[in-house]
Amino acid sequence: MAAAAAASSSALPLLLLLLLLPTLAAAANVTYDHRSLIIDGRRRLLISTSIHYPRSVPAMWPKLVAEAKEGGADCIETYVFWNGHEPAPGKYYFEDRFDLVQFAKVVKDAGLYLMLRIGPFVAAEWNFGGVPVWLHYVPGTVFRTNNEPFKRHMKSFTTYIVDMMKKERLFASQGGNIILSQIENEYGDSEQAYGAGGKPYAMWAASMALAQNTGVPWIMCQQYDAPDPVINTCNSFYCDQFQPNSPTKPKMWTENWPGCTMVEQILVALLGGRSLQLAMTMMHRLMNMADVYTDQSGGCVAFLANVDSDKDKVVTFRNRQYDLPAWSVSILPDCKNVVFNTAKVQSQTLMVDMVPERLQASKPHRWSIFREKTGNWGQKYFIQNGFVDHINTTKDSTDYLWYTTSFSVDRSYSSNGSHAFLNIDSQGHGVHVFLNNELIGSAFGNGSKSSFSLELPINLRTGKNELALLSMTVGLQNAGPFYEWVGAGLTRVNISGLRNGTIDLTSNNWVYKIGLEGEFYSLFKPDQGSNQLWIPQSEPPKNQPLTWYKVSVDVPQGDDPVGIDMQSMGKGLAWLNGNAIGRYWPRTSSMDNRCTPSCNYRGQFSPDKCRTGCGQPTQRWYHVPRSWFHPSGNTLVVFEEKGGDPTKITFSRRVVTSVCSFVSEHYPTINLESWERSTTNGGSAGAKVQLSCPKGKNISSIKFASFGNPSGTCRSYQQGSCHHPNSVSVVEKSCLSMNNCTVSLSNESFGKDLCPGVTKTLAIEADCS
Ligand SMILES: *[C@@H]1O[C@H](CO)[C@@H](O)[C@H](O)[C@H]1NC(C)=O
Ligand SMILES: *[C@@H]1O[C@H](CO)[C@@H](O)[C@H](O)[C@H]1NC(C)=O
Ligand SMILES: *[C@@H]1O[C@H](CO)[C@@H](O)[C@H](O)[C@H]1NC(C)=O
Ligand SMILES: *[C@@H]1O[C@H](CO)[C@@H](O)[C@H](O)[C@H]1NC(C)=O
Ligand SMILES: *[C@@H]1O[C@H](CO)[C@@H](O)[C@H](O)[C@H]1NC(C)=O
Ligand SMILES: *[C@@H]1O[C@H](CO)[C@@H](O)[C@H](O)[C@H]1NC(C)=O
Ligand SMILES: *[C@@H]1O[C@H](CO)[C@@H](O)[C@H](O)[C@H]1NC(C)=O
Ligand SMILES: *[C@@H]1O[C@H](CO)[C@@H](O)[C@H](O)[C@H]1NC(C)=O
Ligand SMILES: *[C@@H]1O[C@H](CO)[C@@H](O)[C@H](O)[C@H]1NC(C)=O
Repeated sequence: MAAAAAASSSALPLLLLLLLLPTLAAAANVTYDHRSLIIDGRRRLLISTSIHYPRSVPAMWPKLVAEAKEGGADCIETYVFWNGHEPAPGKYYFEDRFDLVQFAKVVKDAGLYLMLRIGPFVAAEWNFGGVPVWLHYVPGTVFRTNNEPFKRHMKSFTTYIVDMMKKERLFASQGGNIILSQIENEYGDSEQAYGAGGKPYAMWAASMALAQNTGVPWIMCQQYDAPDPVINTCNSFYCDQFQPNSPTKPKMWTENWPGCTMVEQILVALLGGRSLQLAMTMMHRLMNMADVYTDQSGGCVAFLANVDSDKDKVVTFRNRQYDLPAWSVSILPDCKNVVFNTAKVQSQTLMVDMVPERLQASKPHRWSIFREKTGNWGQKYFIQNGFVDHINTTKDSTDYLWYTTSFSVDRSYSSNGSHAFLNIDSQGHGVHVFLNNELIGSAFGNGSKSSFSLELPINLRTGKNELALLSMTVGLQNAGPFYEWVGAGLTRVNISGLRNGTIDLTSNNWVYKIGLEGEFYSLFKPDQGSNQLWIPQSEPPKNQPLTWYKVSVDVPQGDDPVGIDMQSMGKGLAWLNGNAIGRYWPRTSSMDNRCTPSCNYRGQFSPDKCRTGCGQPTQRWYHVPRSWFHPSGNTLVVFEEKGGDPTKITFSRRVVTSVCSFVSEHYPTINLESWERSTTNGGSAGAKVQLSCPKGKNISSIKFASFGNPSGTCRSYQQGSCHHPNSVSVVEKSCLSMNNCTVSLSNESFGKDLCPGVTKTLAIEADCS
C-alpha cells in the first residue's frame, strides 16, 4: 500500500526504532522484490547516510552516527578502505581510524542498519581509489579487469572482510546490522574502456561476491548489467528515470549527488511505481505536474510539483487550491493536506563562526626548528640519466622526490643582455625550484589537470650551477579507466635564452633522493629520540622554505570542534602529538572571478550556481580531532615547503554563534507525528517559529525580528513594506535568555492585522552565547 508507506515513512521513525532494537539481536531475513527491500517480511523505505569511518576518528563515531539518526537516517553507508587495511601484502591493519568492527558496532548500538560497500576499489575521492599502491607493482597486475593477480588479491581482501564481519556476527542474517554489501564501484561507465576484459571481470566480481554467502543482498552501483540476484543501483544527480536491469529488483539510489532537492524523486524511486495504479495528470497550467498514487482500499497519495524554476504557481487539484513555489514539490499523503513542501522548510539555520584561539595562551612560545637540506641530503640516493617516474620511485611512501643536477655556464652566457629562462615540464603534481640553494619558483597542476609547465627567468652563476627540483605528489589518482598508470614528476627541463642556445638538461645525470630528512628522522613523532636535531628559537624564522617547526600548544577551551588555521602558511604537512593532520595548502582558488552575488539553487542543478569564496583560500582550516589533544604537553609539528609565518597559526573553534528562522503563515504546519489521517483538515496548528541554541547556550540577543514581509537570508534579513512595530519585543519576550523558544505567527502574538491581504512572514536572527 503505497499511500500508507508514504505517510508512515515520515510519521513513524520513533516507533520503528523501538521495534528495531530488540530485533537486531535475532537473525533478520533481508530480501527484496521489485518494490522495495523486505526485512523480516516488512517493506522498508530506508534513508541512508554516508559516514566513511577513516575520515574521522573513533572518538567521533558515536556522535556522528547519533546525528545521522537524529537527521532521519535509518542506515549508515560506508566504503571499506583496502589500502588502509592492507598496507603491505598479507599484513592487515584494523586499529584506530581503521577499526571497521568497532565502527560497525557503533552503528549497531545506535540501532541503525549498515550498508558495507566493500569495493574493494571504491574511488571515494580517496588515495588511489582505495587500492593499495603495492598491488600496482605486483608483476602483471592491471586493476579492475579480467586479470589474475588483481582478481586474486581482490578476492582475498573481500573474503578477509566478509569473514571478519561474519566472525563478529555482523550480517543481518546472523543477527547483525549489515543489510547490504556492495562489490566493485561505479564500474558500468568504465566497463567498455577495459575492452574484452571488462564484462568478464564485472561478472566474476558479482559471482565472487555471491559465493561469500553473506545471507544479505549484494548491490553494484552504476553496473547496468549486474547479474541476478545482484541489484544494480543508481548514483546520480537525478535518478527519476532510472530503471533497474530486471523487473525483480527494486529501485535504489545509492549516491544522491548534490543535484536533487526533489523529495518526490527519492520517494518515487524508493517506492517503485509499478504495482500501483499510476496516474500522471497534467494540471491546467503548463509545467505544473501531479503524481497521484491510489490503491483499491481508497488510499491516495499525491506529489504536486512546480517544475518552473522562476514562477510560483497556484494549482487546483481535486477542487482545492494549492500554492506551489517555483521549483518545489508538495507532498499530500491523503491527496488533500500538504504536509511538506520543499521550498517551505521550517527548520532553523545555524550560523557557525571560526573563533580564533592563540596556540598557546599561558607560557611564552617555545619553538624549535629544523632546516631541510636542499637536494640530496643523505646516503641512499641514486643517479640516473634522464627522468624516472615520480610515483614509480616513491611508491607513495612520501609526497617528495628530489631531482638534482648541475650544469656550467661561462662568463659570456648572456653577453647580449637577455635573460636566461628555466623551462620545466612535469606530469604533476607540483614542483619547488631551488637554484644554487635558493627557492626561485613553484608550479602546480590542478584538480582537473595534473600536468603543468613552468617558465622562470633565472640568474645564473658563472661556472657551476646547482639545480634541485623538489617534485611532489598531493595524493594519487582515484578513478578512471587504467588510473593506476597515470604518472607524475618531471619530463623535460632546459635552460633557454643563453647566448649560444639552449642547455637541455632532460638527459643529464640526475641525482634522486626519496623523501625528506625530517621524514626519515620521524621529526613529527614526539618521542622519537630526534630531539637533538631540533634547534630552539625564541622567535621562529618566517618565510623560510624547507623548515620544520615544533611548538608546544595548549588545548583550545570548551568542547567545540577545532580547526587549525593555516592561512599564514604556504604548503606542507602538520601533526599534533604525532597524529597526521594532513597536508595543508591554503591555495587561492583559480576560479577567482566566478562567484555569484546571490544564490539561487532553483532549477536544474549546476555546480556553478552558488560559488562563494572567490579569491579566498580553497581551504584554510584543517580539522584537529579533540581526542588528539592531551590535557597538557601538546606538540604541534609543521613542515613548511615554501615559507610562511608560523607565529600567525591559530586554532579556531567552530562555534554556533547564532540561529535564524524564516517562516510564513502559509507554511505546512501539520505535525505528522500526531496527525490522524481521518481528520479532514489535518490539525492545522498555525505556523510558528522554533529556535534552539546548542546545549549549554541561551539566546542572548535578538539581532533581527520582523513580522510582516521581510526578505533576505540569515544575517542579511531586511524589513519589507509591512513590518509589525512590536516584532522585536514580542520575540524577546518569548526567547531572551532561553535555550529554545517558540513564537507563533498568530494574532495572539502580534495583535491586530496591520497589513490585511499580505501573507505574513516572521524572520528572526538571534545570538547564542
Ligand atoms: C525470507 O523472506 C522471504 C520473502 O520475503 C521468504 O520467501 C523466505 O522464506 C524468508 N526466509 C526465511 C529463512 O525466513
Ligand atoms: C656554449 O656551447 C658550448 C658547446 O656547444 C658549451 O660547451 C658551452 O658551455 C656553452 N656556453 C654556454 C655559456 O652555455
Ligand atoms: C625547452 O623546454 C621548453 C618547455 O618544455 C620547450 O617548450 C622548448 O621546446 C625546449 N627547448 C628545447 C630547445 O628543447
Ligand atoms: C586547470 O589548469 C588548466 C590549464 O593547465 C586550466 O585549463 C583549467 O581551467 C584549470 N582547472 C581548474 C579547475 O582550475
Ligand atoms: C611505472 O612502472 C611500471 C612497472 O613497474 C611501468 O610499467 C610503468 O610504465 C611505469 N610508469 C611510468 C609512468 O613510467
Ligand atoms: C640574445 O640571445 C638569445 C639567444 O640566442 C636570443 O633569443 C635573444 O633574442 C637575444 N637578445 C637580444 C636582445 O639580442
Ligand atoms: C540559560 O538560561 C537558564 C535559565 O533559562 C539558566 O539556568 C542557564 O544558566 C543559562 N545558561 C547560560 C549559558 O547562560
Ligand atoms: C528547551 O529548553 C528547555 C529549558 O532550558 C530545556 O529543558 C529543553 O530540553 C530544551 N529543548 C530542546 C529541544 O532543546
Ligand atoms: C487575524 O486577524 C485577522 C483580522 O484582523 C483575521 O482576518 C485573521 O483570520 C486572523 N488570523 C488568525 C490566525 O486568527
